[in-house]
Amino acid sequence: KKVVLAYSGGLDTSVILKWLQDTYNCEVVTFTADLGQGEEVEPARAKAQALGVKEIFIDDLREEFVRDFVFPMFRANTVYEGEYLLGTSIARPLIAKRLIEIANATGADAISHGATGKGNDQVRFELGAYALKPGVKVIAPWREWDLLSREKLMDYAAKHEIPIERHGKKKSPYSMDANLLHISYEGGVLEDTWTEHEEDMWRWTKSPEMAPDVPTYIELTYRNGDIVAIDGVEMTPAQVLTQLNKVGGENGIGRLDIVENRYVGMKSRGCYETPGGTIMLKAHRAIESITLDREVAHLKDELMPKYASLIYNGYWWSPERLMLQQMIDASQVNVNGVVRLKLYKGNVIIVGRKSDDSLFDANIATFEDDAGAYNQSDAAGFIKLNALRMRIAANKGRNTLV
Ligand code: ARG
Ligand code: SIN
Repeated sequence: KKVVLAYSGGLDTSVILKWLQDTYNCEVVTFTADLGQGEEVEPARAKAQALGVKEIFIDDLREEFVRDFVFPMFRANTVYEGEYLLGTSIARPLIAKRLIEIANATGADAISHGATGKGNDQVRFELGAYALKPGVKVIAPWREWDLLSREKLMDYAAKHEIPIERHGKKKSPYSMDANLLHISYEGGVLEDTWTEHEEDMWRWTKSPEMAPDVPTYIELTYRNGDIVAIDGVEMTPAQVLTQLNKVGGENGIGRLDIVENRYVGMKSRGCYETPGGTIMLKAHRAIESITLDREVAHLKDELMPKYASLIYNGYWWSPERLMLQQMIDASQVNVNGVVRLKLYKGNVIIVGRKSDDSLFDANIATFEDDAGAYNQSDAAGFIKLNALRMRIAANKGRNTLV
């Protein structure tokens, strides 16, 4: 009888709104979030009103998004399949959470979204929703209706007087998703894996070729694994990411063109701009390099791909993700200090790191006389015992040279 729709205000979700009202004869509640996508969210109010919606939720979720989703993920140096910084994947669990909160607040028993039946997003929205409200009903119009071409969608919109406004801008040929962490492009010419992406596709970053010839230096201050200040100026999480996107974008940082494996089984070509995230990934590793114990750091690296897959596949609200998060967060107690970086034509170059919690001991590491800080003769026995099993095997004729 009542359904909460994740509503962008765009054509697709406007058609969905109308279709839900007609097909299910239900009352639709809309939810529109500002996640830092860089587009106005307020216009969604008038559009929803025009379609007869009475309960309209428009939330600025930028701080919550970065503080409770992006930053926790970056504590693990998370990357999917070696490349993807999970910009879309990490936003979906927050949208799922808000959908359910709004369902509970308005007495709705169903949620709906505009993701297709071919992608990851449907999985992420729905796994999240079921985890947070086990009995919730899910309506995914793209899996049900027959409006499968652009043309049919436009016809439906025209027939039902849904405004197809363009603000003079021509519609992007790509399927895009944007938030404070990234902007993604899929479809269009990208569906041929050999065709180079077009330069004018990118919206957030200068090309490395066009970036300034003079490098930009920045200093990032970390507390418990999170950035709390840039160049000594304290900032909130969303302010940090906004600022890093700006300097990163100007210096041509964070472009990616990849083919990835979707959870539903297909391969998909996508382009991504993640300027701030690309800087954060590199800088976080730098501060961990002096503050984390070796085995703790290596164990984090072993678990990271698993953690990345959990996020990519939509298991943010699963017990195993929550368990891993506690471990990751616990590892960050001493991850404090400052990293100094140079940004230059698409490159993020670490030039310095310092911390009161540093485990780096110059007296021990020095190539000069260490005045007895490290006894080099200890190393002989260390090496000999580590070689023991290989010497025994070689004596048994298992010499790998012959
Ligand atoms: N392939 C990326 C992912 O699965 C990006 C998905 C973009 N979603 C969208 N609705 N355009 O995370
Ligand atoms: C979609 O299918 O709605 C977008 C792509 C994805 O979810 O992976």
